[in-house]
Amino acid sequence: MHLFFLSLIYYSLGKEIYYFLGHEIKIQEAIDHCGGVVWPAALALCRFLDTPTGRQQINLLDKLTLELGAGTGLVSIVATLLGAKMTATDLPEILGNLRCNLNRNTKWQRRHEPQVTALPWGYKLEEMFPHSTHHYDYVFAADVVYHHDCLNELLDTMLHFCQTGTTIILANKVHYQSDLVFIENFKKAFNATLLTELDKVRIYSATMRI
Ligand SMILES: C[S@@+](CC[C@H](N)C(=O)[O-])C[C@H]1O[C@@H](n2cnc3c(N)ncnc32)[C@H](O)[C@@H]1O
Repeated sequence: MHLFFLSLIYYSLGKEIYYFLGHEIKIQEAIDHCGGVVWPAALALCRFLDTPTGRQQINLLDKLTLELGAGTGLVSIVATLLGAKMTATDLPEILGNLRCNLNRNTKWQRRHEPQVTALPWGYKLEEMFPHSTHHYDYVFAADVVYHHDCLNELLDTMLHFCQTGTTIILANKVHYQSDLVFIENFKKAFNATLLTELDKVRIYSATMRI
């Protein structure tokens, strides 16, 4: 719980202010959608990236980085402020809020302009994001395991984007038994290492299995 209070103060209904990397980050929420609020894993991952250890283990400077299920965009904002070449993705219906948060919070302090695009898990991946042209150094996924009806599609999507040299960063707060099943499948599919556990959020780093 302490992460929550360290990093956040409410200032009006539907808006939140966070402090990471010495920046004030204002998040507009869209409370009618689960991706419209900031989830614990996003908060824990940003907190980790705000430490010297986190930045040493996940070096984002000039790295091509993709976020799956970015929601309000907090992780993508922090990654952009750390110098990543960021592409934030989610379902089409919440991209407006995501784009707005990302632009508003990085406009004056970014090294690379972040991109926002629709990426429904498991949908026409090779057609829309061909391997030959879409190679990422990092793929982030924070609290995406929450959606039990599309876990196979989520794993397929992670596999699609994990090429030689790609590191997947999965941050997950275990809410249900099915989360543990997904983590076991994730560990079977990738070469995964637990980087840290913060306030019951596990942060894994994973690469392709040879
Ligand atoms: C629990 S929220 C987490 C949001 C954000 N990562 C965070 O931690 O604050 C899960 C996100 O996954 C997105 N999502 C759910 N199902 C999806 C699907 N089939 N394809 C792509 N995104 C999906 C939701 O729109 C939502 O933004």
